[in-house]
Amino acid sequence: MGTDKDTQINSSGKLSDTKPIVVRRCTLEDLEGVIEVNEQELPEDYPYFFYKSILDNYPESFLVACNSNKEIIGYIMWRVERTPSINSLKLKNNGHLVSIAVLKTYRQLGIATTLLSHSMKKIKKYKIDKYVLEVRVSNFEATNLYKKFNYQTHSIKEKYYRDGENAYYMILKT
Ligand SMILES: CC(C)(COP(=O)(O)OP(=O)(O)OC[C@H]1O[C@@H](n2cnc3c(N)ncnc32)[C@H](O)[C@@H]1OP(=O)(O)O)[C@@H](O)C(=O)NCCC(=O)NCCS
Repeated sequence: MGTDKDTQINSSGKLSDTKPIVVRRCTLEDLEGVIEVNEQELPEDYPYFFYKSILDNYPESFLVACNSNKEIIGYIMWRVERTPSINSLKLKNNGHLVSIAVLKTYRQLGIATTLLSHSMKKIKKYKIDKYVLEVRVSNFEATNLYKKFNYQTHSIKEKYYRDGENAYYMILKT
């Protein structure tokens, strides 16, 4: 799917493929490629129906990055969660970053930065109060990325991951 709303990232000759990388909305046909990137780059994997439900419910903020062969080389997906507010009985919406990954060959080209900045604007449309995410305490690259966007570490979630690693719970107010 190519539209005039696609975003092109020029890899500035860092890759042998100098054609621009395109960031666009994910489609149903892309899910297989998204799952492949996830399985290569992250220990957390999800069943197909989980990706499909995120795509069905939050399609605008589910983005993919593609190379010139139209292969999926990165993705980001979000969902909205209703949480009780501390000060009132009202429920508030959190935009929760479910997953982001970029294939190793394509890292440090600004792809995650583009995925994150574009998708944050889209998930904001659900009238969210804040953006939230968990990241492994050992994940220096990702933690740096979120800090670049001014996310603050709110707390540590002990043994958040299946292998027992702790997570930083990071928040950015909208
Ligand atoms: C985290 C990840 C998505 C970053 O993707 P990327 O496309 O390489 O990121 P960008 O090129 O947009 O870099 C953005 C910022 O991330 C940080 N960053 C990225 N790679 C880094 C590295 N190797 N060392 C330190 N900081 C790094 C920097 O702050 C960088 O900003 P800068 O270039 O101004 O210094 C990528 O490393 C990845 O897919 N990791 C595996 C999956 C993962 O950990 N996902 C997050 C789960 S919470």
